[in-house]
Amino acid sequence: MLALNICKINMASVMVVVLAVVCPFIPAVRPSEELWKLECQPTVGIVGQTTVIRCHIKYSGDIEVVGVALTKVKQDKPVFQHIIKETPSGDPRFRLVNQGKDLSLQLSDTMFSDEGEYEYYVATNIGEKTAKLSISVTAKYKDPITSSWPESITDGGPVDLYCNATDGYPAGTINWFDQSRKNWTINSILTKAIKDTNGSKFVALSSKLTFKSIDSSLAPFRCVVLNSKFVQEGERTFQIMLKQESEKVPLGSKTTNIVAGMMVIGSLIAGLLLALLICRRRGHQLGYHSGHTAETDKEHGTVWNQS
Ligand SMILES: *[C@@H]1O[C@H](CO)[C@@H](O)[C@H](O)[C@H]1NC(C)=O
Ligand SMILES: *[C@@H]1O[C@H](CO)[C@@H](O)[C@H](O)[C@H]1NC(C)=O
Repeated sequence: MLALNICKINMASVMVVVLAVVCPFIPAVRPSEELWKLECQPTVGIVGQTTVIRCHIKYSGDIEVVGVALTKVKQDKPVFQHIIKETPSGDPRFRLVNQGKDLSLQLSDTMFSDEGEYEYYVATNIGEKTAKLSISVTAKYKDPITSSWPESITDGGPVDLYCNATDGYPAGTINWFDQSRKNWTINSILTKAIKDTNGSKFVALSSKLTFKSIDSSLAPFRCVVLNSKFVQEGERTFQIMLKQESEKVPLGSKTTNIVAGMMVIGSLIAGLLLALLICRRRGHQLGYHSGHTAETDKEHGTVWNQS
């Protein structure tokens, strides 16, 4: 810095000759630390999977890494530390992939708690540097599940089509298309429910596409699940179920059965009443006394109860 200032003062003084002699030597005087860079890319990991944290040294010459350390911002202790030729320490899910100028780290079994801002410290034979990096964690949505309400549809009638995708993070969206690839998304309503279970946050997406009057020739429909970056994660093509003529027949025959059953029971009752009447009459004709008649009635009563 001092050398640079002198150089500027010299320029102001227009000591052109002196400048021409002194200035070319200045870069050699400045520490070589200024000439190398440590660069890290922002990282997006998927929960449960291995995440690569990309960091590298930008330097044209030879450089020897002495050690690296990754620290979460506002924490004192590094989450991972590796002094080259020694055993790494800290969270065992971290691993220094390559040595040399590529200083990327691998993080296995990524968790939501890994999200945050970090500082990556690198010490080399020509100095040390720290680079900031961020890790965000996402979760992939499960394959969508589709349904319709009502389940069986009348052509020209109303219907709500549902497409649900769960266990993703962060919140994404769902798009709808018909068989001719026409986009119906604008007619749909998306609901997002956030579920937070022991440190893991997941989003359940449910999209409802409403038709006041469905044209069955638009089917099959396709719903597409997009993540928060609008990248497709899943899709499902589904056929709507049209109400069949044959479905109405079993319902009709059921009614007929009930009617037929009632007619059978009815004629049985009528028959029994008739039998009762005949027996009574016959009893009177044969001149039985009243006590016996009562017994006969009792017998008929038993038969009646059994039927
Ligand atoms: C999808 O979600 C909606 C709203 O929560 C629900 O009414 C519907 O039954 C769900 N469908 C399936 C197939 O889970
Ligand atoms: C479909 O429409 C939605 C909402 O209007 C839009 O966000 C989406 O980008 C469209 N998708 C395609 C593939 O055109």
